[in-house]
Amino acid sequence: MKIGSVSVDRGILLAPMEDVTNMPFRRICKRYGADIVYTEFISSDGLVRDARRSLEKLKLADDERPVAIQIFGGDESIMVDAARRAAESGPEFVDINFGCWVKNVVVRNAGAALLKDPQQMEHLTRSIVNAVDKPVTVKTRLGWSRDNIVILDVARRIQDAGAKALTVHCRTRDMGHDGEADWSWIPRIKEVVSIPIIVNGDVKTPEDVKRAFDETGADAVMIGRAAIGHPFIFKLAKQYLETGSYTPTTPRERVETCLEHLRLELDNKSEKRAIHEFRKHYGGYLKGLRNNSWCRQDVVRLETYGEIEERMQRYADELETLLDPVAE
Ligand SMILES: Cc1cc2nc3c(=O)[nH]c(=O)nc-3n(C[C@H](O)[C@H](O)[C@H](O)COP(=O)(O)O)c2cc1C
Repeated sequence: MKIGSVSVDRGILLAPMEDVTNMPFRRICKRYGADIVYTEFISSDGLVRDARRSLEKLKLADDERPVAIQIFGGDESIMVDAARRAAESGPEFVDINFGCWVKNVVVRNAGAALLKDPQQMEHLTRSIVNAVDKPVTVKTRLGWSRDNIVILDVARRIQDAGAKALTVHCRTRDMGHDGEADWSWIPRIKEVVSIPIIVNGDVKTPEDVKRAFDETGADAVMIGRAAIGHPFIFKLAKQYLETGSYTPTTPRERVETCLEHLRLELDNKSEKRAIHEFRKHYGGYLKGLRNNSWCRQDVVRLETYGEIEERMQRYADELETLLDPVAE
């Protein structure tokens, strides 16, 4: 698949996720083999207002490339302005979010709301494509509701508008994150357009990555939730695609990567903020490791990096004395 200057064969991509895919996490996923990483969605209103939190999200690191900046919004002139600002920050491409299902986004005619008006989605995409000097891509869902699947029409329209790739989260808006993603739409989409199609939704394991490529013929696979606390999935999936098997990550590597992720957060924020915001990640990194609840309960109460490192290393040492450190 080729998107502007980015060329990846059977790429495995990190999905945009709000409050998750910030720069430190993207860098970690990149190190573990994610072929393209996406920023969390950035409010076009925030960017145009110069809101500090939105501008912070535009910062990119060289060792995470190729990276896409994702924006969302409902107002055409604001979206165009925001897309220009995003493009000026130097990503490999700009991605438009037409898939977010949450209420406070769709009530502003943004995100998945555009699935109710594919013509407007096409128009907005074309305006952005014409305004920026970077490739533009789109991420969306199958349709607004299960009885109104519009993805084939949407795919044709956004290709006509000049988008260079389309990511499809294979659920409808009314499903939120419930039910099963229906990958069977991907081959049908590929029949009607020639731009790269990226399959997304419920890719949880290296085996799923292979199945997603084999069953759908997608040009790339995008992983969201399964990468949270488990950035190793990219490396394991690549190993599986190449050899048909993979070596599970050791408990020591999980602990070391967790600490490395926290250190990257500390480079970008105050220690207090970094440590507080990082608390949501321990569960993922330690998931399935024996007796992890004691360690987790301790680290979420600690206030300095030094204390956290000491506690986590002690836990990794304990695990190495066990015959079966992985509980599930
Ligand atoms: C915590 C969280 C935040 C998300 N934020 C975004 C976002 O900012 N932009 C976006 O396009 N999708 C967002 N999504 C949706 C994911 O990108 C992805 O489409 C969805 O989780 C399905 O993929 P998965 O089954 O691999 O998780 C988010 C999902 C989660 C769980």
